[in-house]
Amino acid sequence: MNTTTDVTTDARADARAAQIADEAGERRFNELLASESRVEPSDWMPEGYRKTLIRQISQHGHSEIIGMQPESNWIARAPSLKRKAILMAKVQDEAGHGLYLYSAAQTLGVDRETMFDQLITGKAKYSSIFNYTTPTWADMGSIGWLVDGAAICNQVPLCRVSYGPYGRAMVRICKEESFHQRQGFEILLELMRGTDAQKEMAQESVNRWYAPALMMFGPPDEDSPNSKQSMAWNIKRFSNDDLRQRFVDMLVPQAEILGVTLPDAALRWNEERGHYDFGDLDWSEFHEVLAGRGPANTIRVSRRREAHENGAWVREAARAYADAQAESRRGLVA
Ligand SMILES: [Fe+2]
Ligand SMILES: [Fe+2]
Repeated sequence: MNTTTDVTTDARADARAAQIADEAGERRFNELLASESRVEPSDWMPEGYRKTLIRQISQHGHSEIIGMQPESNWIARAPSLKRKAILMAKVQDEAGHGLYLYSAAQTLGVDRETMFDQLITGKAKYSSIFNYTTPTWADMGSIGWLVDGAAICNQVPLCRVSYGPYGRAMVRICKEESFHQRQGFEILLELMRGTDAQKEMAQESVNRWYAPALMMFGPPDEDSPNSKQSMAWNIKRFSNDDLRQRFVDMLVPQAEILGVTLPDAALRWNEERGHYDFGDLDWSEFHEVLAGRGPANTIRVSRRREAHENGAWVREAARAYADAQAESRRGLVA
């Protein structure tokens, strides 16, 4: 009996079976994309698709979690009880968004501890906008109007993303984001109807947030090499520049209602294109902030690490409670 030959033959048969399964899986994956259907966690998917989604969804989740900080900073100082309640609800929504997204990423095979670890050790990226500081109350208005506004433009197309758990999380998130944008707009509107000092505060804040908000769509298309593949996989639906244009077109009439001036001398209606032209952005600033050298990168990550460490006893207690529940269920079954 030749055992070596048997093992080799078995291994070859297994490899062939795996190859056939992969080919069938790939065919089905391509059919799902072609028919604009959702890919679900149990479906075959290319490794690159899985990795791209893990990176994008976890970064998105981290942005929601870190994004709570610039605003939670103002909950205790909000000018009225009504504003405190609204801001608290908004920050809480962002925590929920982070959790939906971490859950969606987990369906792709990454665990939550790994994602947390990547965030608190500074390995993971998150949206660079949250590395700016919030020195005035008007910043709560600008974040809602401009940052959540840009997030909506970015995220509405993601409701149709090919990966099921991500798309379904986005449907829920987008509903809440539109409330966030309106509350920001309303804060600015109230300030713009107030005293000269309040108007000035609103305008000064918009001046600081306008360009960073436009940069939230990512680098210009010619510097965004991964976009093409993401579009082929129905992950990305519109290019960075298309989304940025859409955002500017939406902002201009809203700025007119508010009575604020968007800080861009090149901003004007282009009849021929049917869109607003706008000036170049300072991409060196974007890359600096992304590289960890923004105004608040260090503090954002260290706060998160601190919160994670301080919350260790809660996780421990939750685990102990879950174990005790499982134990008592076992007792009932026995
Ligand atoms: Fe959010
Ligand atoms: Fe939001």
